[in-house]
Amino acid sequence: PEPGWTIDADVVVVGSGVAGLTAALNCAAGGARTVVVTKARLNAGSTRWAQGGIAAALGEGDSPEQHLDDTLEAGAGLCDEDAVRTLVTEGPAAVRRLIAAGAAFDLSAETGEIALTREGGHHRNRIAHAGGDATGAEISRALVDAVRDRGIRTVENALVLDLLKDADGRTAGVTLHVMGEGQHDGVGAVRAPAVVLATGGMGQVFAATTNPAVSTGDGVALALRAGAEVSDLEFVQFHPTVLYLGPDAEGQQPLISEAVRGEGAHLVDAAGVRFMQGAHPLAELAPRDIVAKGIMRRAAEQGTDHMYLDARHFGAAMWEARFPTILAACRAHGIDPVTRPIPVAPAAHYASGGVRTDLSGRTTVPGLYACGEVACTGVHGANRLASNSLLEGLVFAERIAASVLASVRTPPGAVADDGAVGSRSVGSGPAVGGGAGTTLLPATARGRIQHIMTAGAGVLRSGHSLTRAADRLAALTATAAEKHPEPGVDTWETANLHLVAQVLVAAALRREETRGCHWREDHPGRDDAVWRRHIIVGLDGAAR
Ligand code: SIN
Repeated sequence: PEPGWTIDADVVVVGSGVAGLTAALNCAAGGARTVVVTKARLNAGSTRWAQGGIAAALGEGDSPEQHLDDTLEAGAGLCDEDAVRTLVTEGPAAVRRLIAAGAAFDLSAETGEIALTREGGHHRNRIAHAGGDATGAEISRALVDAVRDRGIRTVENALVLDLLKDADGRTAGVTLHVMGEGQHDGVGAVRAPAVVLATGGMGQVFAATTNPAVSTGDGVALALRAGAEVSDLEFVQFHPTVLYLGPDAEGQQPLISEAVRGEGAHLVDAAGVRFMQGAHPLAELAPRDIVAKGIMRRAAEQGTDHMYLDARHFGAAMWEARFPTILAACRAHGIDPVTRPIPVAPAAHYASGGVRTDLSGRTTVPGLYACGEVACTGVHGANRLASNSLLEGLVFAERIAASVLASVRTPPGAVADDGAVGSRSVGSGPAVGGGAGTTLLPATARGRIQHIMTAGAGVLRSGHSLTRAADRLAALTATAAEKHPEPGVDTWETANLHLVAQVLVAAALRREETRGCHWREDHPGRDDAVWRRHIIVGLDGAAR
């Protein structure tokens, strides 16, 4: 549709989690005319829901090198080592800058230093947290306050539609659908030579997820339509311990942070027997793909679909002080973790893949950047290490701002940024496409997509289940055409979910091995000779 209004800027940041707001603050601090657009309210994205914390080598005896080793191990051979090195070496200072900007982290009662806990896959205590288990809420509060204090222009309730490009194929802004924002109501555009996608994840593509309702893959869908490369989409991380609310639970589910296991909770079966001991040297604190598989295996053996997390031994005082958010969520569902084990099951949690970028967050489309969960910087490989995501958002947002500011300062006519994605330490594989278009879908198709994906492309996948999912997703396009859905937020979001679902399934079908969080029942082994490479997905299926 034609834009009914426009705003001019040097840079438009799409999304308002840790990645987007950090990028915006740094761009504005450097003098760029910065606009933040966000689909709901400024604090509505995934950052606010993060519990466990933010990982960084801040503790005595820890080092970026050890953090690097743990990240590479979790990533199962597919991390870009340069990207991980950047993350872990720049991370500690980035966290200290976040604290200086106003985020209040919990301090150790003994030392007065930042309190650090453990999560899966970490061999050291290196997870900083705030408000016990409300780390993301505190980070979001601090960044939203800073954006407001600085007077950065924001447009809320703005669903991003598509990338605008100039005649040379360079980024020229974005189109938006805004709901009820006075002069900026309806379809409009922010024109800017730099666009930072920080739209978060795509958890809503599955029936049960820890992600909020806004996580509908809008950034990946926009990037695909704009011709950007998207990589590693098959690596969807399922968080092992999500509060189990029954087999038909749908939408956002309460997370039971890894930090609960980090503080000593045990995974047990219905008979109270621990089952992760012996399965991995770190037992309950193994990387989360291994714990998720451990839960699924024991549940299948016992003919059920969930296990239990036993932390009764924490006692009421520790539960109240250390995990107040989780305690309240459990009690709201009639489960008191002080007196009984918490029923848990895996649910979709994090997209390890996304829009492919270099170390400055540049995508393959000149002027288009991606940051945070929507991006694939290469730090996560086949499986993200716990609590590396807030850190990735922080570190790479700062690097993107530096790149944007350099291009803003470059005189007109000169080329500041060639948009090229740098060389990767792990080879890139062929591109695959879902054969997907941008057909608008009726909002009623959303539930269909979610159930197709959970059944066919969930924790456990096979060639058969994925082919069936691909066929069923393709069939939805024909149904949609008959219904002629009107353009609107629901129909756009559903179209985005449909598009990312199709390319995700295509990539998962292509990867005929089990690696990280991609678990193929029909290819149970890891095959480094063939598959130690990335799968690039594109809208048109062409190899790039
Ligand atoms: C958690 O608190 O378990 C989530 C941490 C993460 O996803 O990194």
